[in-house]
Amino acid sequence: METGSSFWMPPPASTFAGDVDDLYFFIYWLNVFFFLVIAGGTVLFAWKYRRRHPDQLASQQMTHNTLIEAAWTIIPTIIVIGIFAWSFKVYMTLQVAPANAPEYKVVGKQWAWEFTEPDGCQTYGELHVEANKPVKLLMRSEDVIHSFYVPDFRIKQDVIPGRYTGLWFQAPKPNAAGHQVFCTEYCGTSHSDMLARIKVHTPEEMQKREWCQVKADAAAGEKLFKALCAACHSIDGNRLVGPSMKGLFGREEKLVGGAAVTVDENYIVESIRVPTAKVVDTYPPAMPPFPQLKDAEIDAIIMYIKTLK
Ligand code: CUA
Repeated sequence: METGSSFWMPPPASTFAGDVDDLYFFIYWLNVFFFLVIAGGTVLFAWKYRRRHPDQLASQQMTHNTLIEAAWTIIPTIIVIGIFAWSFKVYMTLQVAPANAPEYKVVGKQWAWEFTEPDGCQTYGELHVEANKPVKLLMRSEDVIHSFYVPDFRIKQDVIPGRYTGLWFQAPKPNAAGHQVFCTEYCGTSHSDMLARIKVHTPEEMQKREWCQVKADAAAGEKLFKALCAACHSIDGNRLVGPSMKGLFGREEKLVGGAAVTVDENYIVESIRVPTAKVVDTYPPAMPPFPQLKDAEIDAIIMYIKTLK
């Protein structure tokens, strides 16, 4: 069943989101019902059978009632078995991807998401998929445990170093703005900025696949910067995990160990490929390398950094 957004849930946007919601709300309302029966009964009986006079005798102790005891054992057991059977069915739907689903690779690292499409096209902070087609994600981490969470799709899976984990989904409707992806396992300073979006495309858009063409201009650089660098490097002079990019190009940076370097193209390339080669003084050597970035993409990032005066 498809349901709308509610106080608890964003609008469902995957084929199985409605099944997850149905199960969730069944358990929710079942709990509300039994809470009212039990808590209400407790309050009602405490009031009804309260001691009215100081010399009133205590009511007769009841020690045993086979019928009631059987009922409160058997009925909940049947309900719990029912919830298990229903949950297992939904769980298997979420776990087992259709055999024809194309496989996208997902890498989580401190603090960005990188995606590789089946033909090798790479995107950063944005996953592009086709509407109404199943998509399988094969995920790994380069450093610590992250977790890939898409509330609109009702899917969530830990992303673990040294082990592959998987997810799948099928989004029925195109969505140009994209569905929000969160990292939902605390993974360090910029955990809350480890975001991405899943953009769902029409077949025509999938044909063109404009996001796969590497453009070397400042606008493309800004997009890459936001997806890969912005969690740790501000553009307004604020100190985050790494140095701010404001006025960076041409600046003289003091390095750990006492040397100094003037920021030029070569320094930026080296800092992206081998981040620990020259670490700026007072900052931790926290940056992971980005070996998969193409030269044109690094060109674009440098062009963008040059605009940050
Ligand atoms: Cu990655 Cu939290």
